[in-house]
Amino acid sequence: MVEDSTIPLLVRVYYGSQTGTASSHAFNFAKELSSRFGLGVQVQVSSLSDTSPTRWNEPSQSRTFNVFFVSSYGDGEQCDDAKFAYDSIIESDFRFENGDTSFGDFKFAMFGFGSSAFDLYQGAARDFQSALISLGAEIVLPYGEGDDVNDRLEDDYFNWKLEMMDSMAKLFKLKEVDTDAVYVPSYKVVELSGEGMKGPSKVAMGEIAASFRDLQFKDKPPFHCNKPYVAEFMNMKVMGANCLHAEIDIRNSKMKYQTGDHVGIYPSNPIHHVERFLQAFGLNSKLETVIGISMASRSSANTATPLWFPSPTTYKAVAQYYLNINKQLSKEMVKGLIQFIQSPDVRDNLRKLVEEPHLLSTIGSYNIAELLLDYQNPVSLDDVPFSWLLETLGALKPRYYSISSSSMLSPTKLDITLRVEAKPFGICGNNIYSILKQKDPSYECTMNYSTTTKLPVFIRRSKFKLPYDSKRPIILIGTGTGIAPFRAFIQERLKANDNRKTGKMLLLYGVRNKSEFWYESEWSSLQGKYEEVFEMRVCFSQDLSASTNRGTRYVHGLMNESADIIFKLIMEDDAYVYVCGRASTGMAKDVKRKLATILGSDETVKKMRITGRYQEDVW
Ligand SMILES: Cc1cc2nc3c(=O)[nH]c(=O)nc-3n(C[C@H](O)[C@H](O)[C@H](O)COP(=O)(O)OP(=O)(O)OC[C@H]3O[C@@H](n4cnc5c(N)ncnc54)[C@H](O)[C@@H]3O)c2cc1C
Ligand SMILES: Cc1cc2nc3c(=O)[nH]c(=O)nc-3n(C[C@H](O)[C@H](O)[C@H](O)COP(=O)(O)O)c2cc1C
Repeated sequence: MVEDSTIPLLVRVYYGSQTGTASSHAFNFAKELSSRFGLGVQVQVSSLSDTSPTRWNEPSQSRTFNVFFVSSYGDGEQCDDAKFAYDSIIESDFRFENGDTSFGDFKFAMFGFGSSAFDLYQGAARDFQSALISLGAEIVLPYGEGDDVNDRLEDDYFNWKLEMMDSMAKLFKLKEVDTDAVYVPSYKVVELSGEGMKGPSKVAMGEIAASFRDLQFKDKPPFHCNKPYVAEFMNMKVMGANCLHAEIDIRNSKMKYQTGDHVGIYPSNPIHHVERFLQAFGLNSKLETVIGISMASRSSANTATPLWFPSPTTYKAVAQYYLNINKQLSKEMVKGLIQFIQSPDVRDNLRKLVEEPHLLSTIGSYNIAELLLDYQNPVSLDDVPFSWLLETLGALKPRYYSISSSSMLSPTKLDITLRVEAKPFGICGNNIYSILKQKDPSYECTMNYSTTTKLPVFIRRSKFKLPYDSKRPIILIGTGTGIAPFRAFIQERLKANDNRKTGKMLLLYGVRNKSEFWYESEWSSLQGKYEEVFEMRVCFSQDLSASTNRGTRYVHGLMNESADIIFKLIMEDDAYVYVCGRASTGMAKDVKRKLATILGSDETVKKMRITGRYQEDVW
């Protein structure tokens, strides 16, 4: 590497990201680096899936520096796009293309994205970092971690980024260009229709695809996350407070799922949010204006997320189907917005939000449109460029649901079981709930969505699977919506029971109160019919008197009272253990700790995990 501060620093930014957080931060980081250090840096962003680690030690004409943005997924594991790179560098016989077995000179920094609600917090970033170091790479600038819990991630990232950029400037002797430099858009947005202008004949109106070319075959299998199947939702029912059961018709899709898999669903934004957004940015009169969007320049292709939806489209379609207009406000977002605001009063108020970010959580404005409208300060695209909104808000992402039907019993229709968040408002849950209202107008719905009863869906494989041998006992432990895959497991095993005997199934389930006891009548009829093989114990955290054992509030309490049978099933009958539910409740951690106590050691649980006898489907 040439050490000469007059030569631009080549910064390679790599990301491993499952749901887009690390990748959007990687692109924003790259863009900020370019605007802060101008021609002093040359930045390239790529997914870890698009790079070959065997070439990471190639000599370069320029000074180079590497920054990794790594998210954890599954069980402290690498995201799908980082798996190959990680797996190859930890191979015992890993060699670079030139035959070397270690880096000569490879300097890097890293930021990990994770959630401390998971047991293996930052597992992926920490493992990746160790793997690089053991190959001789040198971590020269701060390693940072962002924790999703309690919405701390954005602040953690913001602080790391400031320190990181200052340290980079010192280490590589980078000169700052004018920090008040004007905003340079990454996307070029051109209005193609308007008064007197004729728009193109094909305009994307919410179809999910990266380009128009991909849309040509949109109705033809195979369907996957970039080309989802637009499926009918049917047989929906409300199960107590905020709980919904829905069935998705995949008959004509040729999609196949396996029991324990997930389904991805692309929601749309509710009409009220779309209207408020368009109003806040002065777009009410341009709803149907056709716009063409492309990367603004070749260099912006290096520092901005590639366009994720087909163009041409309309402002309204972007707001309704493609853009995360309800994105939670962050310090970074508000700071970015200030540069475009003309009113000194509003600027001052926004500055206060940046300086005292706790105010952000108390103002009750949940998204950028509400923030502007609260200050009675709608802006126009002359003030806030549409490109900035695309860069800042990012894609409206699919949501995942654990399939609650068995593929053996129901191969062409899959069930989901979901909680609908009313406050703060959940986009996808309420979108699915609004379909119920389309079908049965007697249901009240707080927000209207588009009038379709279909949504784009795709299947995602999961490792959460029943033992191959159906005679093995299974212990299922879950809370709330975590009942979903267990319903599928039990249906499947009981179906097998009609033909031959299955192993014992012990289901320990915790919810807040009786109104959240999902599928209650289904469970009681199964318990009556199959009592030899199926046993269910339930606890209610807010209603002790209704629990199976009246002294037990939480599932780890249920485990305590079932300790003998759990011990026997695992140690004598080789049972498999499954845990499912939301991570933020801390349930999965409590369950694992309790299991270790029952079995006498953490080691036994670790071994079970390694051999697939302890599996989690936790989110
Ligand atoms: C592998 C996997 C399996 C899953 N399985 C299931 C399942 O079987 N059943 C199930 O119900 N869920 C499941 N989930 C969760 C599901 O994917 C969704 O995350 C969940 O339904 C919420 O999505 P939503 O679009 O309704 O809410 P979102 O719009 O994503 O909002 C979620 C929450 O974020 C907060 N929030 C959002 N925007 C803002 C804002 N602007 N300001 C402040 N706060 C905000 C709110 O608290 C809101 O309730 C699973 C997740 C994963 C990853
Ligand atoms: C199914 C699932 C599993 C996760 N597993 C972990 C984990 O084991 N350790 C961790 O620190 N964070 C875990 N997380 C939290 C994510 O890493 C965190 O939300 C991150 O911001 C997501 O980044 P991404 O959008 O780039 O994928 C998990 C999240 C989900 C939805």
